[in-house]
Amino acid sequence: MKAVVVYESHWGNTAEIARAVAEGIGPDARAMTTEEASAEAVADADLLVVGAPVIAFSLPSPRAEDAVAATAAEAPTPPTMVKPSMFWWLADLPRGTAEAAAFETHIRWSPGGATGTIERDLKKKGYRVNANSGKFVVRSRYGPLREGELERARAWGSALRPRFGQH
Ligand SMILES: Cc1cc2nc3c(=O)[nH]c(=O)nc-3n(C[C@H](O)[C@H](O)[C@H](O)COP(=O)(O)O)c2cc1C
Repeated sequence: MKAVVVYESHWGNTAEIARAVAEGIGPDARAMTTEEASAEAVADADLLVVGAPVIAFSLPSPRAEDAVAATAAEAPTPPTMVKPSMFWWLADLPRGTAEAAAFETHIRWSPGGATGTIERDLKKKGYRVNANSGKFVVRSRYGPLREGELERARAWGSALRPRFGQH
């Protein structure tokens, strides 16, 4: 059994959550950037977990890349520019039938968000999305994560485990 947790992350918060989710799923899970998660890397996954930050109320759109780049002067650390962005990674994802789940990091709940779009794209490609999405909170625009979020991410990951037959 194999699980892949794919993420987009500019300041590392979503990456930290992705690693905690993978830990929670168990030893057969690996967290990967969109660049690492090639079509071959996810082709034989039994569980595909996909996560991104909320930028401008949604999954980062192609235009959000400019907004992210524009933060370089004010952000505490320059953003990692992600290639491909999750938007394009999902567009290029081959069809599949594995179980899948989505998560996001954000400052606060807002209309929109990233998980709805991720789940819709996964379902369009044939993936089975049955688990509730994971929503994890940062303390300010660039992080850090709110206290307790890594534990919540591990717990959310371990709740996904029975969905693909690991016990
Ligand atoms: C340009 C920009 C726009 C953002 N827009 C939103 C937003 O609409 N809603 C929200 O809850 N958080 C928003 N955030 C906060 C990010 O979602 C949050 O910092 C996220 O955890 C960053 O993840 P990363 O460190 O993995 O890149 C925004 C942050 C930036 C820099």
